[in-house]
Amino acid sequence: MNKAWWKESIVYQIYPRSFKDSNGDGIGDLQGIVEKLDYLKELGIDVLWLCPIYKSPNDDNGYDISDYQDIMTEFGTKEDFDLLLQKSHEKGIKIMMDLVVNHTSDEHLWFKESRKSKDNKYRDYYIWKNGVDGQPPNNWESSFSGSAWEYDKTTDMYFLHLFSKKQPDLNWENRAVRNEVYKIMKWWLNKGIDGFRMDVINYISKDQKFPNGDVKEGHLYGDFAPYSVNGPRVNEFLKEMNKEVLSKYNIITVGETPNANTKQAMNYVGENRNELNMVFQFEHMDLGNGEDGKWSNGRFELIQLKKIMTKWQKGLEDGGWNSLYWNNHDQPRVVSRFGNDKKYWKESAKMLATCLHMMQGTPYIYQGEEIGMTNVAFDSLDDYRDIETLNAYKELVNIKGKAADEMMAAIYARGRDNARTPVQWNDSENAGFTTGTPWINVNPNYKQINVKSQLNDPDSIFNYYKELINIRKNNPIVVYGTYDLILENNKELYAYTRTLGEEKLLIVCNFTDSISNFDLPEDIKYNSQKLLIGNHKIYGEVNIKSFELKPYEARVYLLKMC
Ligand code: NOJ
Repeated sequence: MNKAWWKESIVYQIYPRSFKDSNGDGIGDLQGIVEKLDYLKELGIDVLWLCPIYKSPNDDNGYDISDYQDIMTEFGTKEDFDLLLQKSHEKGIKIMMDLVVNHTSDEHLWFKESRKSKDNKYRDYYIWKNGVDGQPPNNWESSFSGSAWEYDKTTDMYFLHLFSKKQPDLNWENRAVRNEVYKIMKWWLNKGIDGFRMDVINYISKDQKFPNGDVKEGHLYGDFAPYSVNGPRVNEFLKEMNKEVLSKYNIITVGETPNANTKQAMNYVGENRNELNMVFQFEHMDLGNGEDGKWSNGRFELIQLKKIMTKWQKGLEDGGWNSLYWNNHDQPRVVSRFGNDKKYWKESAKMLATCLHMMQGTPYIYQGEEIGMTNVAFDSLDDYRDIETLNAYKELVNIKGKAADEMMAAIYARGRDNARTPVQWNDSENAGFTTGTPWINVNPNYKQINVKSQLNDPDSIFNYYKELINIRKNNPIVVYGTYDLILENNKELYAYTRTLGEEKLLIVCNFTDSISNFDLPEDIKYNSQKLLIGNHKIYGEVNIKSFELKPYEARVYLLKMC
């Protein structure tokens, strides 16, 4: 396998709005990130992925960009960004920017011009179509509910928006659009940034016939996915981007690719494809989806999770590369989702970290995950801020008649604001996030769960993450070893091995709140064993051929043949 610095790195994701506020306006900012660089260095991460920090009217918290070369007013200035870049680099931390180019804000100059007239220079920067009998051009449903088309009176036509109506989709068929994007990318790279995370990058190519999508049961609109996800020209566009921009820099690139299977993912990241380094897949995040998609509050089965993770580990092991994540700004907190955030909060947070960080791929830690931050349950819908959540509530409860308490339960389980409550720095007011009024309430459990109380506690989740990172840095087998699932049908344990030369790692994780027995498969041979890490104290040498795991216990053994 080819070695690469981004395969050996650990990425930390920052959602700047909720990370650290330095000026008391209740919104996190760039100076706040600068303040916390030493903390991040202490954790041991290599790369910071910054969610969008560009100028934006914030319909979707920065994923609606109105100027790609300017900084969001609430986050600071260009000078603040330069300082952040410089200070990060001084500490050996790289910066990966979020590139959101499937769509812009409707307040971007290109769109403001585009909507003015049919012959405006920027008209074809976006996707404009005539309506049919007073209805939208087709039946596609926006990812944020309702039609994906918005009528615009000025020219009596509709524009496409796969997300909110303030996020019109760019027309990638237009070479001028692609050139603009490449120009912006080069501008940032020439400033010295170290890579891009590319927002829904597999949505950029649409079937130019724009056919109606299937209307799934319970839906009012049709599914755009078959016609605009992993679309006809997406690989061609990425190859062009790679040739014109990416290949000229030694950077990290990760594409966000919902709905991509392992074969499509290999097309994006395969070593000889000249497209991207890795992608974010979503299969494990979609566990529990049902009739109302993610708002179905379904349960997850460990067997399913193992199947999905294994499919990706094996599917990309030959010339591809995985990104490893449990959390991001769109997902609930993992300790609440796959762990037990009450009785076994600490154990399960550490177990989940072990299970993920010993896999093959580049691990991503989402802010607050390293201290075991949990989901939140605000009593009132008024305390929620996320456009996806608010729109879904309107559609499912107000229009389709879903019971309000069921919807609230689904929001508690899966809503994006779970990830967006402010980082809990200490036990002072507002968790030390701001001296003002936070833009979204702090999780009330900040007195128990916060950074300050964990930094000097050797048994804390924070220090456990630190150790996991250290193990990865000091053992090439964690980066490059081959993954194999064992005990496939065990419903309680997630156990797997990693193999590199004469070494093997044995990873065993109990996903339940009961004791579980582990029996080593007979074909695993070894002459010596060493416990690398575990979330419970273990006394004396254990016979690993058969042992008991406590609730949510995790262990990693290094086995050697000689
Ligand atoms: C994916 C991003 O992660 C999400 O936060 C955003 O709402 C959509 N793309 C639209 O940009």
